[in-house]
Amino acid sequence: MTSIAAQLAAVRAEYERLPDGLRQHVERVAAEARDLALRWDLDPARVELAAWGHDLFRAHPPAEQLRLAEEAGIPITDVDRREPVLLHGPIAAVVLRERFRVTDDEALAAVRDHTLGAPEMPLIAKVILLADKFEPRKRKRDPVLRQLRRLARRDLDTALLCWADWKWVQERTHGWASHPAHWAARTRWVREHRLDRAMPPILPLDPADPDFPPAE
Ligand SMILES: [Fe+2]
Ligand SMILES: [Fe+2]
Repeated sequence: MTSIAAQLAAVRAEYERLPDGLRQHVERVAAEARDLALRWDLDPARVELAAWGHDLFRAHPPAEQLRLAEEAGIPITDVDRREPVLLHGPIAAVVLRERFRVTDDEALAAVRDHTLGAPEMPLIAKVILLADKFEPRKRKRDPVLRQLRRLARRDLDTALLCWADWKWVQERTHGWASHPAHWAARTRWVREHRLDRAMPPILPLDPADPDFPPAE
C-alpha cells in the first residue's frame, strides 16, 4: 500500500511524457477542484490525486485508447468505437488502480466518470467533473460555464443537471449523438430533481406566512 502523496508524485511524473497543453489543463482543473474541495469539505489530497489522474490517457491516439480499453476489459459501445476519446476516463481509472496502486474507490470513480457522469456519483466525482468543465480556459470561451461555476458553489447536484442540459443543447445543435451512459445519468438526475421538488415542505405551513395557502 502506497501513500496518496507517493501515488500523486508518480501520476504527476507521467505528464513529463505527455503534451504541455494537457498538463496545463490538468493544473487548471486541479486548482479549480481544490477550490471546490474547500467549499464542500473534501480532502484536498484525494481531490488532487483524482484531478491529476483524470486525463492521463486523454492525449493517446484513438486506436491506442480502443486497444487499451479492450485490454482492460472495459465495456465498449458503438458511440465509443466512433469516438474512442470517450474511453480515456475508464482507462485511467483501471491503470491508476493496477499500476499506481490507487485504492480510493471514490477517487477512481471520479476519474472514470469525469467525461459523461454516472447515475450515482460520490461528492469527489461531482467536483472533478464540474472542475473539468469550467476550468478557466473553458469558461472564458462560454459564459454559461461561468454561471455553472457560480452554481457549483451553492448546489453541486443542480450544477450537474444544468451542465447536462447545456450538453444536451450542444449535442442537438451540432447533431452529435448522446452517449447512453450520459443519458442514463441525466435521466436519474432529472428524476431526483423532480422528486426533490415534489417533497412536502420541511416545516408545516404557517398560516401567518403570506404564501399560505400555497398559490395554485
Ligand atoms: Fe477528460
Ligand atoms: Fe480534463
